[in-house]
Amino acid sequence: MTTNNELIGRDEINDLEAILSVSNTDVDAVDHGVAAGFDAVFTWDYERSRPALGKLYEKAKTSQWNVTTDLDWSTPVDQEALALNEMSREDVKFFGDGIDLAGTPFAKWTEKEWVELAIEGQNWTLSQFLHGEQGALICTARIVETVPWIDAKYYAATQVVDEARHVEVFARYLDEKLSGHYPINAHLELLLDDILADSRWDMTYLGMQVMVEGLALAAFGFMHQMTTEPLLKQLLRYVMSDEARHVAFGVLSLQEYYAELSDAEMKDRQEFAFEAAVRMRDRFLQQEVWDRMGVPVKDALELVMADEGRVVFQNILFSKIVPNCKKLGLLDRNDGWLRQRFTELGVIQFEDWVDTGEEYAMLDEVAKDREAAAGA
Ligand SMILES: [Fe+2]
Ligand SMILES: [Fe+2]
Repeated sequence: MTTNNELIGRDEINDLEAILSVSNTDVDAVDHGVAAGFDAVFTWDYERSRPALGKLYEKAKTSQWNVTTDLDWSTPVDQEALALNEMSREDVKFFGDGIDLAGTPFAKWTEKEWVELAIEGQNWTLSQFLHGEQGALICTARIVETVPWIDAKYYAATQVVDEARHVEVFARYLDEKLSGHYPINAHLELLLDDILADSRWDMTYLGMQVMVEGLALAAFGFMHQMTTEPLLKQLLRYVMSDEARHVAFGVLSLQEYYAELSDAEMKDRQEFAFEAAVRMRDRFLQQEVWDRMGVPVKDALELVMADEGRVVFQNILFSKIVPNCKKLGLLDRNDGWLRQRFTELGVIQFEDWVDTGEEYAMLDEVAKDREAAAGA
C-alpha cells in the first residue's frame, strides 16, 4: 500500500508546515525546462472512428473567438473601487462571521489593508490562471504528438489554439487592467512538472484535462458569477466555453482507454489523481499573498483553514473533478481507493453532480452570442 508520504511528501494531508516548506525558490527565472522521454506517435489509421470526438472537433472549429476583436478592451477597470464594493457584500467577505480575529495580525487592519488584500488576491489569482493556461498549452501540444487516435489529434490541435488564446487573454488583462504579476505558485509548478514528466499519453490527459482543467472550470465559473467587472465577466464567459470542451475531451478519450486497463494500471491513475488533487488544494492557500501582505503565513493559513465558509468554497472547486473521476471508473476501482481519499479531502459529496462529458454544448456562450447577433 502506497503511503501519503510517498505520494505527496507528508503523512497528514493538512500538515501546514509541510505545505509551506514548498515554495518557489527561483522567482526571477525567465524559463523552466521539464525533461521528458516520450514517443511522438504517427498513426496510419485515418479512419474517423470516434464520432463523439468528431462532434467535439466540429464544435471547436465553429466556436473560435478572437481576444483582440471580441472583447471590449476600452472598458476601464478600477481595482480599488471593485475591492471596496466586494467588501460591502456578505457573499464575498474574506473571513466568515465565525472567525475571531482578536489577537491575530488582522485585528489591527483598517480598510486600507483589506482593500490591499483584495487587490493582491486578484493579481495573484489571475497570475496563477495565466501560468496554468500555459501549462495547458504545453500539455495539449504534447497530446497532439502522443495520442494514438486521429480524431483525438485533430481535436487536440484546436485546443492548442484555444490555450494560446487563454494565455494571451490573461496576460493582456494582467498587463493592462491589474496592478502586478506573481510568479508561479510552487504547488502548481510541481503538479505541471509531474504531468509533463510522465511519458504515458493518458497521464497528460488525466492531469491536465480532467484535474487541472476540471478545477479551472469550477474556479472560472465562481469568479464569473461573483465579479461585477464587465470585461473580466465576458472574458471568463468565453474562456469557460472553451474549457468545457477541453474537460469533455479528457473524459471522452479516457473513458474508452480506462475501460481496458488492469487493476494495477488503474491504481497508478488513482494515485496520480489524488496527488494532483492535493497539489491543487495546496495552491489555493495563496501563501505568496500573505507573504506580500507582511502577515506570518502560517498564522494566516491557520485562520483560513478554520474558516468553514472558505473550506466550503475550496471544496466546490472539486465539483467537476469528482463526477468526472467517477465516470472514468477511478473512484471505485481497487476497492474504492480514490473514493476513500476524496472522502478524507472532504470532496466526495460531488460524485453525482453533472459530469462534463455532455455539458459542453450547453456552455457554448460563443455560439449563443453569434446566434443572437445573427437574429438581431
Ligand atoms: Fe485554457
Ligand atoms: Fe483548457
